[in-house]
Amino acid sequence: MDKQDNNGYVPGLKGIPAAESKISFLDGQAGLLTYRGYPIVELAQQSTFEEAAWVLINGELPNTDELTRFASDLRANRRVKYNVRDIMKFLPIDGDPMEALQTCVASLGMFYPGQERMTANGVNADSEFVEQMIIKILASMATLVAMWERIRRGDDPILPRTDLTYAENFLYMMNEREPDPVEARIMDACLVLHAEHTINASTFAALVCGSTLAPPNLVVASAIGTLAGPLHGGANQRVLNMLDDIGSVENVAGWLDQRLANKQVIWGFGHREYKVKDPRANILQDLLEQLREHRHGQISPLYERAKELERCAEEHLSPKGIFPNVDFYSGLLYEALGIPRDQFTPIFAISRTAGWLAHWKEQITHNRIFRPTQVYTGYEPRSYRPMSLR
Ligand code: COA
Repeated sequence: MDKQDNNGYVPGLKGIPAAESKISFLDGQAGLLTYRGYPIVELAQQSTFEEAAWVLINGELPNTDELTRFASDLRANRRVKYNVRDIMKFLPIDGDPMEALQTCVASLGMFYPGQERMTANGVNADSEFVEQMIIKILASMATLVAMWERIRRGDDPILPRTDLTYAENFLYMMNEREPDPVEARIMDACLVLHAEHTINASTFAALVCGSTLAPPNLVVASAIGTLAGPLHGGANQRVLNMLDDIGSVENVAGWLDQRLANKQVIWGFGHREYKVKDPRANILQDLLEQLREHRHGQISPLYERAKELERCAEEHLSPKGIFPNVDFYSGLLYEALGIPRDQFTPIFAISRTAGWLAHWKEQITHNRIFRPTQVYTGYEPRSYRPMSLR
């Protein structure tokens, strides 16, 4: 713990446990991340987003029947009500996709009501409602992100298909064509990698909102708002803008020196928990290499700049425990898959919804409303002065 004062206040709650959870674990010194005990490296290589979401939400690897039913429920719930599309049509087309996503997710409870079932017996949520809403929200996320992409381009949204996996269907709805299998597999691995990460800022926001027994679509909407900031999910698109600004591989070293001298942040570097390279960044870099091979070496020139930046930053930042995080390489992959930069964070949100809902489900079984204290640093009580005396 750092910067703790006599009142026990710790800025950013660094090191303060705010929940108990069985969902994920990370060891920032060893660079280990597990979902329900399963290492993220194994899941990214061998599992699928549907299976990883099941593991997070239900605690164990599914058997064949369980996974088939879960995946089929997700497929059956991909369509959203027509009026959600109308909401999008009234949003400004140059608006931020995270705001569009949050707006539409927040509205889902009105189209799929049942809030009274959050306190079925006055305290606990009806478990059928919990399962239904998990499926509905998780299934809708990809549809909403792709729908906004189509609407803002002036195109009709593409209806989801039920014969494709979650990742395949998302790319299909975005690009109006079935994805190449290698690209779909990469998208799937990206969704697995971003699905959960202990009690980060957006998950904490979800827990706080969920602790009031608010409906799950608002729990996810709160988390989406929190993920949007550049210090959290919003960093991935800034990484690419930064690589653009650098201009060339030769400029990297000088750019970095200048940037650090000005005490400016290097996007995609640093993490509150990891003091080594984020294990997800290693996997994403491997995926980039696979895509490069698949495309016979054709990949964005920004990748070479990114590798050079990582190399130069090693000297300056690694002594402080600052290494590439998950956002450093993810944007390069998404851009290579034809996804616009301002949709990178919404894709993060699609995936992280599995983790947010897993935490919501875990918490409401033994809920207690969050109500921390504060250290008051304001005035002592004083008398109100009428306007004429000020
Ligand atoms: N670039 C340059 N310096 C960085 C840095 C970065 N990306 N991340 C941390 N640092 C430096 C800080 O300036 C600070 O230096 P100081 O001790 O000399 O003041 C030190 O490292 C500790 O950083 P701090 O901001 O206290 O860490 P934190 O745990 O509060 O913040 C992040 C973590 C993620 C918010 C921070 O690393 C950051 O802003 N990263 C860039 C944004 C990003 O990529 N976010 C995605 C996270 S997955």
